[in-house]
Amino acid sequence: MKVLAILGASGHGKVVADSALSSGLWQQVFFYDDAWPTKTHNGQHEIVGNTKSLLDLSEKPEVVVAIGNNKVRLAKLTELIHNGFTVATVIHPAAVISSSASIAVGTVVMAGAVINADAVVGSACIVNSNAVVEHDCLLGDAVHVSPGASLAGGVVVGQCSWIGIGASVIQLKRIGSNVMVGAGAAVVTDLADGLTAVGVPAKVIKY
Ligand SMILES: CC(C)(COP(=O)(O)OP(=O)(O)OC[C@H]1O[C@@H](n2cnc3c(N)ncnc32)[C@H](O)[C@@H]1OP(=O)(O)O)[C@@H](O)C(=O)NCCC(=O)NCCS
Repeated sequence: MKVLAILGASGHGKVVADSALSSGLWQQVFFYDDAWPTKTHNGQHEIVGNTKSLLDLSEKPEVVVAIGNNKVRLAKLTELIHNGFTVATVIHPAAVISSSASIAVGTVVMAGAVINADAVVGSACIVNSNAVVEHDCLLGDAVHVSPGASLAGGVVVGQCSWIGIGASVIQLKRIGSNVMVGAGAAVVTDLADGLTAVGVPAKVIKY
C-alpha cells in the first residue's frame, strides 16, 4: 500500500488528499500539522504528527505540502527535500494536462484544471479546481492559480504570486513575484513584483 504524507491539515489539504486518493497512486494519506497533538483530525483524515515528527521518521514516506501561504509552502517543501524526502506531484484524474506541459515536483493540480501545450509549471504550485493555464504559460515556484482563474497563452507568473479566484490574465502578460491578483480581476497590463491589483480592468491598490 502506498502512503502519502501531507504536511498541512488545511481545507486545501483535504482537497489534496481527495485528489491523491482519486488518482489511485496512493491508497492512504496521513496528515502532519504543527497544530498536532491539539488537532487530531482534518475532516475524515487522521493527523499523526507535526513537522518535527515527519522529519524524524526513519522510513520517509512520499510527501506533499498543503499549506495555502505560498512562501511557507515553498519553505516547508525545500526543508523536506533537504532532509531527503521524495516530494510527490498530485494530479486529480479529472484534470486535463497536455503531454507537452511540464509540472515540477510538489505541485498539486485539482479537478477540472486544464494545463495546455508547452506550459511550464514550477515546484510547489497550486493549480486549483477549474483553473486554466493556457499554452506556453510559465509559472515560477509556489504560484497559486485559484479556483476558476484563467491564464491566457504565454502568460508568465513569478514565484509565490497568487491569482485570486475567478481572475483572468490576458495573453502574454508578465506578472512578477509575490504579486496578489484579487478575486475576479481582469489583468490587462504587466504587473511588477510585490503589487496587489484588483478589479476589471485590474488596478494596483498596494505596492
Ligand atoms: C485582493 C485582496 C487580497 C485584497 O485584500 P486586502 O489586502 O485585505 O484588501 P481590503 O479587503 O482591505 O480591500 C482594499 C480595497 O480593495 C477592494 N477590493 C478588495 N478585493 C477586491 C477584489 N477582489 N475586487 C475588487 N475590489 C477589491 C476593497 O473593496 C477595498 O476597497 P475600498 O478601499 O474602496 O474600501 C482580496 O480581497 C482578494 O481578492 N483575495 C483573493 C481571495 C481568493 O482568491 N481566495 C481563493 C482561495 S482558494
